[in-house]
Amino acid sequence: MTQREPAKPRDPSPGCDDPPAVARPWTRREAIGAGVGAISLAVVGCARLPPVREVPSQDGAVSLALADYPELQRPGGVLPVKPAGAKKPVMIVRGEGEQFSAFSLKCSHLGCTVGWNAEARSFDCPCHGSRYKIDGTVQKGPAKRPLTAYPVTSDGATLRFSIA
Ligand code: FES
Repeated sequence: MTQREPAKPRDPSPGCDDPPAVARPWTRREAIGAGVGAISLAVVGCARLPPVREVPSQDGAVSLALADYPELQRPGGVLPVKPAGAKKPVMIVRGEGEQFSAFSLKCSHLGCTVGWNAEARSFDCPCHGSRYKIDGTVQKGPAKRPLTAYPVTSDGATLRFSIA
C-alpha cells in the first residue's frame, strides 16, 4: 500500500483571471477545493489585490514615508506591501483620520493569500470562500480566526509596523 503525502493547500494568485499555479494534474482534494473556490467567487464577486509593493524591512520592522504612498493619503485607502523576507503580503488600511491598520494576507483557514474585494471592502479568500471584514475579523467561514493584525503607529509622516 502506498502512502500519499497530504496535499498542501493550493495558493493561487488572488487575481481572478490568473491561471492556476499548479503545473501538474490536481489531486482529487485540490480539484474539489478549486470547485468550491470557483463557486464561492461566483457568489462573493471577484477579489484581486492592487499591485503589491516591495518594501524594505529590518528584522521584520517596516517604516514607510507616507508621502511616498498616495494610496494611504486618503481615508479608506489600502496598500498591499511585501516586506523583505515576509512570506505573505501585508495590507495596510487607512481608516478615518490618521488611523492605520495592517493585516497579514495569509488566510487563517489553510494559508492561501486572500484578495481584496474593493466593492465589498472585504478580504476574500479564493481557496474556500472565507471572507474577512476590513478590521480583519471573520465575516464568513470556513475560517474561524481573524487575519493576523500588526500594530501600526504613525506620526503623520511615517508609518511603522513590525511583522516579527
Ligand atoms: S484557505 Fe480555506 S478559506 Fe482561505
